[in-house]
Amino acid sequence: MAVGIFDSGLGGLTVLDAVRARLPDLPLVYLGDNANAPYGVRTADDIHDLTVAGVRRLYDAGCDLVVLACNTAAAAALRRMQEGGEVPPGKRVLGVFVPLIEALAERSWGDNSPPREVAVQHVALFATPATVATRAFQRELAFRAIGVDVEAQACGGVVDAIEDGDMILARDLVRSHVEALLRKMPAPDAAVLGCTHYPLIADAFREALGPGVRVIEQPAIVAEALADYLSRRPEFAGAGGGATFLTTGNPARVSERASRFLGQTITFEAA
Ligand code: DGL
Repeated sequence: MAVGIFDSGLGGLTVLDAVRARLPDLPLVYLGDNANAPYGVRTADDIHDLTVAGVRRLYDAGCDLVVLACNTAAAAALRRMQEGGEVPPGKRVLGVFVPLIEALAERSWGDNSPPREVAVQHVALFATPATVATRAFQRELAFRAIGVDVEAQACGGVVDAIEDGDMILARDLVRSHVEALLRKMPAPDAAVLGCTHYPLIADAFREALGPGVRVIEQPAIVAEALADYLSRRPEFAGAGGGATFLTTGNPARVSERASRFLGQTITFEAA
């Protein structure tokens, strides 16, 4: 029994990489829905249906626990799946969104105490258009922190460029999205990279934001949250190690791009 990691495409590999560093003995199955990426320009219903299909595929592959390593899927589908009875008995699905917000709000997992003041006050959120449209980040943050001003920037085109391997375009787009955000919020304390594709070009965000802004990336935060979850629910951590990579896209093309991004050979199979 492995832990499943799901993303619309390549972005979730940033989470997988951090999980492997934190939990080297944990067996993993990664599924990238590259045939349908990007999700960030789709409707919430569409994202929900694709996410349900992806999670089922991972349950069928023997995973009892699936991590949605995709903010867009987590923002548009996770609550609906959990509340709509779409998670079979004995199976679990977790998102990347809540661990990020708990880290920002200085809380540990499952701390449901009332919202309180936190250190950050002006937060820039960079995410896909669909994630920004859900306002899930602001909603989840409001449950945990008060007095935080959030300015969200929908980063159209960035995921498409990364999936196409066009990093020059991706970096140009990041620069223009950061400029647009800074026009609305000139001095953020922190910037949240709210899409798992963005750590692949975190340096472009850092450069455009300048040295005074703390850039918060998800992969290490999610890996830590997963380690914490599995320490309390060890029955979801299978034995055996290793990782299997599945894609709905073209396995040869996805393998080539994934290997380039992570700087290690990764071989995808057809899902
Ligand atoms: N990595 C996904 C996320 O975190 C990208 C979504 C997309 O496919 O647009 O939001």
